[in-house]
Amino acid sequence: MLLITPLEGRVAVVTGSNKGIGYFIALQLGLSGLFQHICLACRDLQLAQEAVASLKQQLPPEVQVSSAPLLLGDTTSHHELAQTLEERYGKIDVLVNNAAMAFKQADPTPFLEQCSPTLNVNFRGTCDLTEQLLPLLRKGTDARIVNVASMSGRLGQVSPERQAQFAADDLTMEQLHALVDEFERDVLAGRHREKGWSNSNYGMSKLAVIAATKVWARREPSINVNCCCPGYCKTDMTSQKGLRDPADGAKNAVLPATMEHPPTGEFFSDYGVASW
Ligand SMILES: NC(=O)c1ccc[n+]([C@@H]2O[C@H](COP(=O)([O-])OP(=O)(O)OC[C@H]3O[C@@H](n4cnc5c(N)ncnc54)[C@H](OP(=O)(O)O)[C@@H]3O)[C@@H](O)[C@H]2O)c1
Repeated sequence: MLLITPLEGRVAVVTGSNKGIGYFIALQLGLSGLFQHICLACRDLQLAQEAVASLKQQLPPEVQVSSAPLLLGDTTSHHELAQTLEERYGKIDVLVNNAAMAFKQADPTPFLEQCSPTLNVNFRGTCDLTEQLLPLLRKGTDARIVNVASMSGRLGQVSPERQAQFAADDLTMEQLHALVDEFERDVLAGRHREKGWSNSNYGMSKLAVIAATKVWARREPSINVNCCCPGYCKTDMTSQKGLRDPADGAKNAVLPATMEHPPTGEFFSDYGVASW
């Protein structure tokens, strides 16, 4: 294996990296030779410590791996993570927003009761965490954000009128949150289909993450912001039924995090830029 000296002090933070695709994103970033520090921001800290130990065995000794607590969707936890990272590194060079949840198909929780928890973690949690970490990313070198979204977030799942709203070149973060709030209200009122929304809470949460990617890309000129679909991967989220190994899925996030001259505001799928 070719070992490249990690760029002095560069820091990558990967959320939800104690297992699944996030674990392999952390591993591949560590192997890229572009980072001195890899931080696993995780909810299950016991599993995170096991992941740190496993990564240390596979990474060159100059790459320092550590973990930090994160409960995505809890603004206090986001604030505490930002403080921890500020004290530990003073900046972030790459943030991979990988953590997310999905109700299983067999879960008996009614559709409308799945709506708010899904939006709160996958969309609102990712947005608040990112906003709280932006000051550290603005201090990064060649700073990048990669949001792990999904093909489930494809634009075509909503009506043409809704597509125009989400894809508007001048969409603001406030307008995006208002659209997501409106979807949630329509789900709770049982009228989301007639209002042009899709019938997937998870899909809408990922569609909104892709839209947020494009808003940040326009708003943050010093940061490259992209998103990706890892593909249908064998992880706990899919009850290990996916078609792709999570290590291969991870490459779709690692590419925009490490490539030279990355685009910004794009959606990566199958190892390249794809249409939304
Ligand atoms: N697998 C697929 O086929 C597929 C397809 C498209 C997109 N994706 C996306 O890929 C990403 C990784 O998914 P995966 O398949 O690797 O799933 P996974 O194995 O279930 O891993 C999900 C990770 O997110 C963490 N997480 C979930 N909710 C959290 C919360 N509230 N706070 C902190 N951490 C939280 C989990 O932590 P715990 O260990 O504490 O539960 C775990 O580390 C997700 O964004 C997912 O939506 C996956």
